[in-house]
Parts: sequence; structure tokens; C-alpha cells
Amino acid sequence: MSQTFADQLSELLNTALRSTSAADQIPSGFTAQIDQAQNRNFGDYQSNAAMVLAKQVKKNPREFAAEIIEAIPQSDLIDTPEIAGPGFINFRICGEALENRLSALLEDIERIGVAPAENSRTTVVDYSAPNVAKPMHIGHIRGTIIGDCLVRISRFLGHNVISDNHIGDWGTQFGMILWGWKNILDESAMEEDPIEELLRIYREVNAKTKDDESFKDICKNELVKLQSGDAENLAIWEKCIELSKSGLQKIYDRLDIHFDLWLGESFYNDKLGPLVDQLLASGIAVESEGAVAVFSDGTLGEKDDPFLKNEDDEWKPQPALIRKSDGGFLYATTDIATIDHRIDELKADAIWYVVGAPQQLHFDQLFQISKRRGQDVDLQFIPFGSILGKDRKMLRTRSGETVQLADVLDEAVVRARAIVDEKNPDFTDEEKAEIAEVIGIGSVKYAELSQFRMTDYIFDWDTMLALKGNTAPYLLNAYVRTRAIFRKLGSDYEVASEISLTEDAEKTLTLKLAQFAEIVPTVLDDFRPNALAQYLYEVATTYHKFWEACPVLKADGAVRETRLALCELTGRVLRCGLGLLGIKTTEKM
Ligand code: ARG
Repeated sequence: MSQTFADQLSELLNTALRSTSAADQIPSGFTAQIDQAQNRNFGDYQSNAAMVLAKQVKKNPREFAAEIIEAIPQSDLIDTPEIAGPGFINFRICGEALENRLSALLEDIERIGVAPAENSRTTVVDYSAPNVAKPMHIGHIRGTIIGDCLVRISRFLGHNVISDNHIGDWGTQFGMILWGWKNILDESAMEEDPIEELLRIYREVNAKTKDDESFKDICKNELVKLQSGDAENLAIWEKCIELSKSGLQKIYDRLDIHFDLWLGESFYNDKLGPLVDQLLASGIAVESEGAVAVFSDGTLGEKDDPFLKNEDDEWKPQPALIRKSDGGFLYATTDIATIDHRIDELKADAIWYVVGAPQQLHFDQLFQISKRRGQDVDLQFIPFGSILGKDRKMLRTRSGETVQLADVLDEAVVRARAIVDEKNPDFTDEEKAEIAEVIGIGSVKYAELSQFRMTDYIFDWDTMLALKGNTAPYLLNAYVRTRAIFRKLGSDYEVASEISLTEDAEKTLTLKLAQFAEIVPTVLDDFRPNALAQYLYEVATTYHKFWEACPVLKADGAVRETRLALCELTGRVLRCGLGLLGIKTTEKM
């Protein structure tokens, strides 16, 4: 498969730049950017290189742009470029290049032009990671869905990706759970719905600790017993983990999310003691008031130093605690050990953490500690914001509790079913159920992935399930329409023998579809699945415009074949793109 239009243009432009009279003055590392044009009236791609370089080469930007255009050799890729405004260079892909690209994309069934990344890396993606025996709430939905999408895209680009669910299976909540298990467990409820019963225990005991200090100590005592290896407590703990994991697995199955590893916090328990000793010996950690902590080493500017905080106009120490004075280890200790394991055993080149924005400080400190230990690994914190209710406060149920993920999925499917019932009354019950599942789960995922991850967004059923607008139902419907034509024809797509683009709407759609290969890799530049979502939405709207302007089945010869080819390719791009977002498609709705 040849390069994308953007890459080909970039080559043309950068070569041209170096054969202008200003070539000597252009910094050797400079590469001119090629951007997709927002509006096809002014061309398909645009570069601001002449404006960016004008000062450096001491030329008027428009004149320099003309000189660059002069230096671009004749090619069968573009018509003659044009200058616009203060010195933009506009490129228009010529009709024949669009036709050739369309043919090539049709043959590239699996990848639709997306080239594998040049350097394949081993990346561990750490996401979802709920805390055992606590509810997996709606907040976890963000990390789970974003993480899964990043895994899918990295894999598609040819990277070796290991997804790891770093569940919180060793936290202080176990003190409460253990006491609850021994004292208030309802056996039959546990049999019926273990997750629900564990949750009830956690909530009830948690409430009891709120106003009773001595009861807090009782729970803490259970935790200490567990941590020092008490057989009874260990057995209960194991049972809890097992029950929770199988409950979580059900949710993940429904979401079509699969982890390669479930190395929870407890996996690292026996590594923590030696690790702290090693950190002490190397001087990275020091003892402080009986505890062990990592302090600033003074090598970073104050503002960039996560081990300092500004209080009343003064920089004060903000150490990372890695062993408490009672000997207990902390979240950070486990995370340091986890990095070691991922580098040493999993051979990670990169580790991505998809975790809520409030944990920024924890990861800033963690990454600094790794640097100070001389580790050569690319660590990325990929934070996300909150999901809000319509009142713009944290989303809660009517009774004021945190909204649980499993309930959200149930409700999504029930609501989607209403749409299917109305739209397709004559489908069988089984078909309706299947389609409702695809639309319901897809809508929850798409509502998440179509937002920039840092945006706090309002969770609103009506918007996310709407058949119009930037929603999953709209995209799924567009996909279904591309499939319906072939059903009407009574046959599958047959390869077009001749491609001939005549109408503008066809060319615009071809260009859009060709840009799939340009968009997909950029998602990983800044971890923005919403760039892909936005693109797919544009594919769907462009397709609808094409559909209105260009009759398909009524056309003849090459025109008809080309239009059918465009329908087929649109379907493939939508299916592949939605698949990268983790969203399934349906053939009918
Ligand atoms: N269990 C944590 C929480 O729910 C998230 C863990 C994220 N991963 C990590 N390696 N710290 O807040």
C-alpha cells in the first residue's frame, strides 16, 4: 500500500523547501506540517510552512510560498498548488490520484491503508483497575473504555501490547470486609449475588466506622491479622477476590474487554520489603520520623518538582511515603515494584496508566522515582475527568449512592430496546435483543470516547441514544445503510472493474475515507480516541451527503460500480473504526 496523501505531500513539500534559494537558512531538523483542510473549497490539504519560515529566511511569506510552489515538481498527485491569505499553500488532490487510492483501499481489506508503526514497542497498558469489594462505579467506566480503545489501536498499529488489570486487592477496605464477613454475612444473599452482598457488607461496616473510633480499631486489627498471614483471614480474603473477579469478569465480557494479566496489588507483597531496603541503600529514600519516604533531590525547578508544594508562598517538602512508621507499605510502594516487574519480566518499553486526574501527583512522583533509579522506560499518565449528572455534580443514583457500572449497562440496553422496538417492530425477539445490546453498550462507550478525556461530561441518556447527532446510534445507522444496499441487490460486494469519480460528493467521500489511515495513528500522539470518533462522525455525514447527491442503484456502468465501491468502503471504514473504539456493529437496525 502506498503512503497516505498527507505523507506523500509532506515528502513533496519538504523536498521542495530544500531546493529553494532559502534552503541554507532552513534548520536541518525542520519538517513542514501538512494539515487536512477544513473546507474543500480551498483545497484538500494546507501548509503554513512559508509563514512559519518567513522570518528566518527573511522573505515575504506570500513570495516565499510562490517560490516553494515553483520548486514542487510536476506530479500526478496534485493539481498546481495555490497561495491563500497571508501565505498558506493549498493542495488539491487530483481526480486520478483519488481514483487510484480508492482502488487500492478496496483491496486492502484488513487495514484500509493504515500502515503498521515503524518501531514496534512492548507497551503495558494499566487501566480499569477497580478496587475489590468496593463498587465498580461509573467513574471506572472512563478508564476502562479509554484504556481498551488505546489497547486496540496500539495493537492494530502493530505494537506488542499487554493489558494489565492492576486491581486494588490489598487495600484497607479488607479490614472492614473481614469483620463484616465474620459478623454480618448473609449466606443466602451471598450465594445469590456475591458482589452485591460484598458491597452491602462494605457499606454497612464503613458506615459503622464513621462514628466509632474503637470499632475502627477492631477492623484495623482484622487487617493486621491478614497482613501477617493469619490463615482464617487469608482464606476469607482469597474467597472475596475470587468472587469479585468473577463478578468483574461478567462486566468485562459484556463490554467485550479482555485483560492479558490481572496482577493486582497483592501480587507485589513480598517484593515491597526488599524494595524499600534497596531504595534506602541507594539513598533515593530516607528515614523520616520512623517512616521511609522519598524527598526532592533538588534537581528540578521548584515548580516542576513533585516533591515540593507551595504553601503560603513557601516551598515545603511533599515526600512520597513508601513505608509507614508501623511498617505498612503504601500504594506508591506497590507501584514502584510494579514498574520493576513490568520492565524486568514483561520487557516493557512503555507503560501507560489510564487513571483519573486526581492521581496526577502520585504518578508525577512515581515517574520521578523511576527516573532517579535510572530506568529506561517511557512512562505515560493518561488522566481523565469526571462524569457528571444533569445537575453538573458527580453522578449519583436517586437515593444518593454512586452509580454502578453494571446498572448503567443494564439501563442502556433497556433504553436501546425501546428504540429498536419502535424502529423495527417486525424483527424477531432474538434479533431485537441482540441489536439492543449492540446499540446500548455501544452508546455508553461512544458517549465516553467522543469526548476529550479531560472534559467533565454530563451523562445524559437522551443525548447518547439519539439517532441524530454525534452518537453511536447515528454511526451504527450509517453503517447499516451501507449494508442495506447490498441486501437490496441480493448479493455481496463485487470488486469494481472500473473506478470513475464524476461528482464532487464522490470525491469528497473518497478523500474522507482515504484519511482513515491518517487519523488512526494520531490517536496515540496525545491519547485522544475522540479524534477517531470525530472522524467517523464526519465519515457518516459525508456519506449521507453523497447518498443524497448520487443515486447508486439507478446509475449505470462505471459510475454505478464506483458508487457501490464507495458504499462498501464506507461500511468497512465505519466497522473497522468503530471496532477500534471497541464498538460492535449490527447488520440491521
Ligand atoms: N485501584 C486504583 C483506583 O481505583 C487505580 C489503580 C491504577 N493503577 C496503578 N498502577 N496505580 O483508584
